[in-house]
Amino acid sequence: MKGIILAGGSATRLYPLSKAISKQIMPVYDKPMIYYPLSTLMLAGIREVLIISTPRDLPMFKELLGDGSRIGMRLEYKVQLVPNGLAQAFVLGKEFLNGEPGCLILGDNMFYGQHFSRMLKDAVESVKDGGACVFGYEVADPRAYGVVEFEEIEKAAPAGGNGQDVQGQSLKELRVISLEEKPAEPKSNYAVPGLYFYDKTVCDKAAKLEPSARGEYEITDLNKAYLAEGTLKVKLFSRGFAWLDTGNCDSLLDAGNFIATIQNRQGFYVSCIEEIAWRNGWISTEQLSALGKEMKTAYGRYLERLAATKFAR
Ligand code: DAU
Repeated sequence: MKGIILAGGSATRLYPLSKAISKQIMPVYDKPMIYYPLSTLMLAGIREVLIISTPRDLPMFKELLGDGSRIGMRLEYKVQLVPNGLAQAFVLGKEFLNGEPGCLILGDNMFYGQHFSRMLKDAVESVKDGGACVFGYEVADPRAYGVVEFEEIEKAAPAGGNGQDVQGQSLKELRVISLEEKPAEPKSNYAVPGLYFYDKTVCDKAAKLEPSARGEYEITDLNKAYLAEGTLKVKLFSRGFAWLDTGNCDSLLDAGNFIATIQNRQGFYVSCIEEIAWRNGWISTEQLSALGKEMKTAYGRYLERLAATKFAR
């Protein structure tokens, strides 16, 4: 599967911070924001990624990440001239996807929590034979998001089973009932985060969308096309899982503090793209060490320390 990071927009809620630079290049503690969504794609095993941004900001992402070869990836870039909707990612990304399935992540969405890699890999699997997969995350006030309403249905359980599969997971399945973008009266408390997995029909579906009342090609409308077809799946993040917002100055600072707290407590870095590339086997231990030596910071020392560990990756 290939991935797309949508990192455009004007981020007016962060003015004057974002007046001259992209929000998605701003620091979240010790690394640029885009490292976080990029690392999510990497954890899903996605090695080829298209980064979409504004004509002003795209050169900066190129300077930051290059062609991706330093971390064993292939990165491409594409300009979005007008920020007229998230679903445009699959119009702009048609050539890049070249008829293959695709995962979209918004450049300002950050995730952190246990079993995340497994969930991502399950999501990749779940659209292999067609359909789409989105996530649900319970929030106190979902009115600023896409909102998913669903019901639990029993899976056909093997005779004599105890209502759980071999991994102890509940045999209940979720069926999506409705999806709404920023509803005034939400039908559930489950927001849909900016992380979406689609089968190979996604570009055709995106091309057929009409702009919404606010003039945007809505990702929720794209997801509704899968819902209408009966192929939209939803997976839930548990309450211990962090989906962080970076929309305004306070949430940006909170996100930075959250990352600092975890990293300083545990000693492991969150969303360290070089580490993930190494653990995925995309770069060698020697390459990891060389990348570390280039940086005279704690980040660089961390990479060198990892490269020197005797533990298998
Ligand atoms: O964060 C999750 C939410 O993201 C979802 O729950 C909503 O369903 C989805 O519509 C979206 O809502 P937002 O209100 O957060 O969308 P926003 O317009 O702020 O765009 C999200 C990011 O994508 C932002 O960093 C800017 C970038 N963007 C946005 C648009 C519309 C682009 O790069 N290009 C665009 O055309």
